Amino acid sequence: MSKFYITTPLYYVNSSPHIGHAYTNIIGDCVARFKRLKNEEVFFLTGTDEHGEKIKLTADECNEDTLYFIDRVVNSFKELWNKLNISYDFFIRTTQDFHIRVVQEVIRYLFEQEDIYKSNYQGFYCIPCESLWTEAQLDNGLCPECKRKVEEIVEENYFFRLSKYQDWLKRYLKDNPNFIKPKIRYNEVLGFLENNDLDDLCVSRPKKRVSWGIDFPIDDNFVVYVWFDALINYISGIGFNQDKDKFNKWWPADIHLIGKDILRQHAIFWPIMLKALNLQPPAMIFAHGWWKVGEEKMSKSRGNIVNPEELIKTIGADGLRYFLLREIPLGMDGNFSWLAIKNRFNSDLANDLGNLVYRTLSMVEKYFECFISGNFEKIPDSFKECLDNLQKNYVPLMESLDFSSVLEEIWQLVNTMNKFIEDTKPWLLWKENKVEDLKWFLFSLLEGIRIMSIYIYPFMPQTSIEIMNQLGRDDKEITLKKAIWQKGSFKITKGKPLFSRIDAD
Ligand code: MSP
Repeated sequence: MSKFYITTPLYYVNSSPHIGHAYTNIIGDCVARFKRLKNEEVFFLTGTDEHGEKIKLTADECNEDTLYFIDRVVNSFKELWNKLNISYDFFIRTTQDFHIRVVQEVIRYLFEQEDIYKSNYQGFYCIPCESLWTEAQLDNGLCPECKRKVEEIVEENYFFRLSKYQDWLKRYLKDNPNFIKPKIRYNEVLGFLENNDLDDLCVSRPKKRVSWGIDFPIDDNFVVYVWFDALINYISGIGFNQDKDKFNKWWPADIHLIGKDILRQHAIFWPIMLKALNLQPPAMIFAHGWWKVGEEKMSKSRGNIVNPEELIKTIGADGLRYFLLREIPLGMDGNFSWLAIKNRFNSDLANDLGNLVYRTLSMVEKYFECFISGNFEKIPDSFKECLDNLQKNYVPLMESLDFSSVLEEIWQLVNTMNKFIEDTKPWLLWKENKVEDLKWFLFSLLEGIRIMSIYIYPFMPQTSIEIMNQLGRDDKEITLKKAIWQKGSFKITKGKPLFSRIDAD
């Protein structure tokens, strides 16, 4: 059995999750479920990033004890992941003891190896981004990433020798063109490394300025820089320095899934940290795009967030998962609008998919008292080509995370089956007493629906299971091996329509 290790970023806990956070975890879940469908052994890691001044300040503003505040926000993340059926294997919190210990061990090790050293620092600090910048990097005196105000800082600090490894990283990227995806992000990182000299990374913060962090193990006056702390979760979460066998089993990660906003930290800091620790880099870093409202990235600080809980109430977890994965090709930005959601939901889910299942099962109920068996092995010509294409393309498209294309192909099958019903006119077969033809027609539709329900599993797990159950089959049949035409029987239980149209504006 091959193994597959996928991670998501650790979310800051200064506020409850929004659609942007949900997007990353839904993508991660879709990949993890696809791999399980292929019978691979999966470890799916997600969690929360709980240090840094921003979080402490937010807790103070709410007049709450910092840890109490954090626990509350962490629960809201966990609740949302439950509602969205995110099948993570472990939820890591950077305030957990084992993680703190590993971070401190890493710092000590790198200090002894002289990859971390003490020096003077003069620069500009952006609290929301938790990033330090030189004067030259500022954009008209503002943070080059978020364009907000920065604070000037002069102090002693500890530094990690990024510069020492710049040439290695450049070479590594050239030798591994699939290390960062999509290509546009790979080019961005390589271009940056070719045109700039990396500054060493400041990995400590003086306690007099930042109090909420992991104690710097070799100097009591400092805490660890929150990014240096958080990135280490990808190894501490699978047993680094705690459980050798577990760690060796899962590392290196197959995919670090991130948003494009945190590419620099993952594609430059992290591979260099791993190199200094003598560990292999992850196989791939995939940076997806942003959900925007108008022209602006959705984020709490811009005050334009969409609450996923509200949407789930209207379109369900699967409706939201489907929309986010179908609407834009992975890697691109997307515009979030209620109209787009409503159109997709009503047309793709309520009309195409929902109707197909409902009317097919209604006919099986009406004409064959809920039971049909088929000895036929031949796929009807009218949807053979469509199904063949899907069977050929599904795995390669899923492996390249081209989710919107996969869904498009699945919907071609759905619509071909709908057309098959309209063209065949089953009610005429019934009238003319062509029972065998009618039985063959319905059996083929049930088989087509069964196979389709396996393919939609990574995207809409609840719907997939619901369809399988309505077909009278066990959830265990949801595996890629069974996504082929089979003889057999169906003892169906017709349920309510899978999706009811939304009319509200
Ligand atoms: N804590 C750091 C990550 C540390 S990983 C070792 C962080 N947290 S975050 O909460 O600000 O954002 C995490 C991720 O949420 C982003 O990388 C991205 O994956 C996702 N998104 C946040 N807003 C988003 C959108 N508006 N659109 C799409 N994804 C977005 O950065």
